[in-house]
Amino acid sequence: MLSPLDVFRDNALAGHVALVTGGGTGICRGIAAAYARLGAEVCIVSRKQDVLDASAKELSAETGREILAVAADVRNPDAIAAAIKATVDRFGKLDTLVNGAAGNFLAPAAALSPNGFRTVIDIDLNGTFFAARAAFEHLQKSRDALILNISATLHYHGTPLQVHASAAKAGIDAVTKNLAVEWGQFGIRVCGIAPGPIAETEGMKRLAPGDMSTKMAASIPAGRFGAIDEIAAAAVFLRSPAAAYVTGHVLVVDGGQCIATPPLGMSF
Ligand code: HXC
Repeated sequence: MLSPLDVFRDNALAGHVALVTGGGTGICRGIAAAYARLGAEVCIVSRKQDVLDASAKELSAETGREILAVAADVRNPDAIAAAIKATVDRFGKLDTLVNGAAGNFLAPAAALSPNGFRTVIDIDLNGTFFAARAAFEHLQKSRDALILNISATLHYHGTPLQVHASAAKAGIDAVTKNLAVEWGQFGIRVCGIAPGPIAETEGMKRLAPGDMSTKMAASIPAGRFGAIDEIAAAAVFLRSPAAAYVTGHVLVVDGGQCIATPPLGMSF
């Protein structure tokens, strides 16, 4: 059977430089791997250098390419700016920023502490803006730049136990649209991907523990969770010349989950 990534030609991304926040694990590790496999220079960024180094080693073995690994907390504007600078210092430029760093947990709104709410907004939403803001001066030099923001479909409906993450992801989609409009003139496209439930990710371990995942899969029109490579393929498409006229758009990759009722099949 063809993998979702087999449709792209070898070296389709040769000459591109990408930085992927949250690139050490899960969906964003998959995006980093796909970009590297197709010839891009890739830097992965997350909080813990030891986790990143292990991922970079694995990704290098998988893709045959050097993977730069720079620890930074996206909540710290200076730290993410330094990671972006390290990428430009190493590879000479920056063409693509993938904002994928995220934090989440299930919590009833009435019991969620202010700091719990703030923490998820800080990582997901503020981190997305801080990275985009710091990348701007480099991306405008690329003239073929992309910012790709990973959000979700949680905010398309009300989602129980997810007020913090839904608010953050709604904000991210707003950032996508606003920056697309404001930065188009600088040759920067800004797009999003809204993944549905994706198998073998930290998010699904946290959001659909135990037999909840079976129930949730049954509520998805496609009848299953998505695969990391299916999100990576969307990320390659949006990065490619095939999407050169696509900006400000958030591509939903969720097997039809967000248009089904109930959206999450979750009881609380
Ligand atoms: C309630 C919680 C909580 C929980 C943390 N908090 N976990 N509240 N239930 N399970 C609260 C804490 O009590 C604290 O508030 C505040 O959040 C900060 O917690 P810390 O642990 O101090 O913060 P930090 O170390 O920065 O951890 C961030 C984190 C953590 C998000 C809270 O879980 C984390 O780092 N996770 C790893 C990444 C991750 O979650 N990936 C999955 C993303 S899934 P107080 O008031 O006590 O100080 C995703 C998919 C979305 O994005 C949609 C898919 C469909």
